[in-house]
Amino acid sequence: MGRGIFITGTDTGVGKTLVACGLAALLKTLGYRVGVMKPVETGCVEKDGQLFPQDAFYLKEASGCEESLEKICPYRLRAPLAPSVAAAREKTKIDVSALTEIYSEISSAHDVTLVEGAGGLLVPLLSHYTYADLAKLLKLPLLVVAANRLGAINHALLTLEHASCRGLTVLGYVLNQLESAPSLAAETNAEALLSLTAGPCLGEIPYIEDLEAKRASLANLFEERLDLRPLEAGLPRR
Ligand SMILES: Nc1ncnc2c1ncn2[C@@H]1O[C@H](COP(=O)(O)OP(=O)(O)O)[C@@H](O)[C@H]1O
Ligand SMILES: [Mg+2]
Repeated sequence: MGRGIFITGTDTGVGKTLVACGLAALLKTLGYRVGVMKPVETGCVEKDGQLFPQDAFYLKEASGCEESLEKICPYRLRAPLAPSVAAAREKTKIDVSALTEIYSEISSAHDVTLVEGAGGLLVPLLSHYTYADLAKLLKLPLLVVAANRLGAINHALLTLEHASCRGLTVLGYVLNQLESAPSLAAETNAEALLSLTAGPCLGEIPYIEDLEAKRASLANLFEERLDLRPLEAGLPRR
């Protein structure tokens, strides 16, 4: 079974998919077989009569993972809500053992498998079961994505502290710039976090102008910005 990394974030919309895609594309260019999984995607829009998982699609494209979208994203839900809430509305039961089985199939066929959560670590998959529980069950270390803006220090520390309370391994965090003009907070967050956390900062991703047009060249961009060492440890030699 290959190595896995759970990509979580301090919130929804902070750049988990972007960072997972950048990392997947970079690992792929380095010669690794990269698997991806988005266990549950909510807020899916119908396309050709089916709910389309946009995050899962981006992850598949960036990684070159040949698994079907149905396997990469077994649960696709329409409501833009936490998985447990969307599933209840849509009369779907999320089966964690099915997710475990699919994860082990994907990870056995790849050197490294990136699993993207939804929202943050304490988002519920079932009424009493969060993504922290899933990461623990799948024995996945975390990569935490934080939006580099005012509030990032508190949000990053809350996530890192909860991970530590749950005995989850944190490989590091990434600060992602969502705003085209960096705020004073964005310029000072990295240094502030450095003195407040033990977990390594693996990089700062700048605001990417016209991101959709640059999706195919994310590997180059991430190569310059991401410290891969903690992520590559334990992977087979290239
Ligand atoms: N560094 C960035 N530069 C420009 N746009 C970004 C950047 N990071 C994320 N975005 C945009 O912000 C939105 C949220 O990012 P996404 O990766 O989907 O977040 P999450 O997966 O955490 O919900 C998307 O529209 C994405 O294209
Ligand atoms: Mg996402």
